Amino acid sequence: MPLTPVLTKRFGTDQPWKIENYERLDGYTGLRKALGMPPDDLIALVKDSNLRGRGGAGFPAGMKWQFIPQGDGKPHYVVVNADEGEPGTCRDLPLMMNDPHSMIEGIIIACYAVRAEWAFVYIRGEAVHAIRRVTAAVEEARAKGYLGSDILGSGFNCDITIHNGAGAYICGEETALLDSLEGKRGQPRLKPPFPATNGLYDAPTVVNNVGTLASVPYIVLGGADWFKEMGPAGSPGPCVYSLSGRVQNPGQYEAPMGSTLRELLELAGGMSRGKDLKFWTPGGSSTPMFSAKHLDVALDFDSAVAAGSMNGTSALMIFDQDDCVVRAVKKWCDFYLHESCGKCTPCREGTYWYVGIYQRLEAGGGTIEDIATLLDLSDNILGRSFCALGDGAVSPVTSSIQLFREEYLAHVEGDGCPFPGARALVGAH
Ligand SMILES: Cc1cc2nc3c(=O)[nH]c(=O)nc-3n(C[C@H](O)[C@H](O)[C@H](O)COP(=O)(O)O)c2cc1C
Ligand code: SF4
Repeated sequence: MPLTPVLTKRFGTDQPWKIENYERLDGYTGLRKALGMPPDDLIALVKDSNLRGRGGAGFPAGMKWQFIPQGDGKPHYVVVNADEGEPGTCRDLPLMMNDPHSMIEGIIIACYAVRAEWAFVYIRGEAVHAIRRVTAAVEEARAKGYLGSDILGSGFNCDITIHNGAGAYICGEETALLDSLEGKRGQPRLKPPFPATNGLYDAPTVVNNVGTLASVPYIVLGGADWFKEMGPAGSPGPCVYSLSGRVQNPGQYEAPMGSTLRELLELAGGMSRGKDLKFWTPGGSSTPMFSAKHLDVALDFDSAVAAGSMNGTSALMIFDQDDCVVRAVKKWCDFYLHESCGKCTPCREGTYWYVGIYQRLEAGGGTIEDIATLLDLSDNILGRSFCALGDGAVSPVTSSIQLFREEYLAHVEGDGCPFPGARALVGAH
């Protein structure tokens, strides 16, 4: 597999977060080029590249930019989703720590393309290190004239505000994020209207993930055809996969979209402890889990769906033969219960009942009917929740029952978790 890094090419170099070092390795040349282009040509370029949003849903970035109405006399905004709350996901933070200027350069280009003069970066509140680093990088960019008035003599004005979240997973959902940014309680808004017409302060707003925007300067410099050489035509480009759990060397691995777990495991030194792969998530806990038979599924937006899951955030959490699938799903259900914002009944109540049943299955006292109830609850959450958090909570439950029903039965028949040592951990967080 071709492994010339793009998004991580500066990782590991001398202080890559400093603007001088960024500039030495092509930094801000994409912006210079972009400012010489008509904004509509930039939107067309990003559309042509088929760049799909890296935040989870894979929505085409150029199309999203095109939805911003022009000549409407309203201010426009670009909002960067740097909340990164999906379990297992760890690529926006490394990107902001190592190479914050690639995101900042992408933000300025996006602002120019959609005629926005102000951008906000919404960073997870716990990530104080990233907040400090991005804040310092924005100050550097301002001092060098990449932000502020009349950027590089182009007449274009643009600035960035960093906003610290307060550590709620739901504030990664784009409309909850906008409410939170406006100082309200972070809960999802009814869609439509979409942020493209009624976003921040009711004005047209692009919400993009860190990785989506960090890809933009490379597309401006390399062109759409170059970008499409990496990965499948419908879902191309470089991707930072995060591998965690039972692998020899957990971490971030950049590879073309459409790489397989087999290939990624090779990069990560294989399974740890000499054990066999049992189950794994292709894109965080909200994507239906896969098993060892899915080792060769191409991990891109279309292929993952065709194989019964989703690419999500490309967060691969990997479990081996000694890991209890029921226990793993219970932990994720604890998370969804804690993070459910409570706005709608199916998610608020469903996640509560999920956890009660998983506690029984783990500790003893679970019944065959409990498995049927889990599926029944899932039917009532999926597609009936107000936002995608509810749907995400269903994914690990239904996919694990589908792939590992015998293990659920073993919990019922053995009156609790059959995995040695697991019972002692029941209820621990
Ligand atoms: C519960 C929930 C949490 C989310 N968390 C994030 C997040 O932390 N970061 C992110 O970029 N997108 C997150 N999303 C997806 C966003 O709603 C939105 O699709 C994304 O920011 C759009 O950016 P993109 O088009 O560049 O992918 C989340 C969605 C849901 C439903
Ligand atoms: S699905 Fe869950 S997180 Fe989303 S609005 Fe309903 S209660 Fe809130």
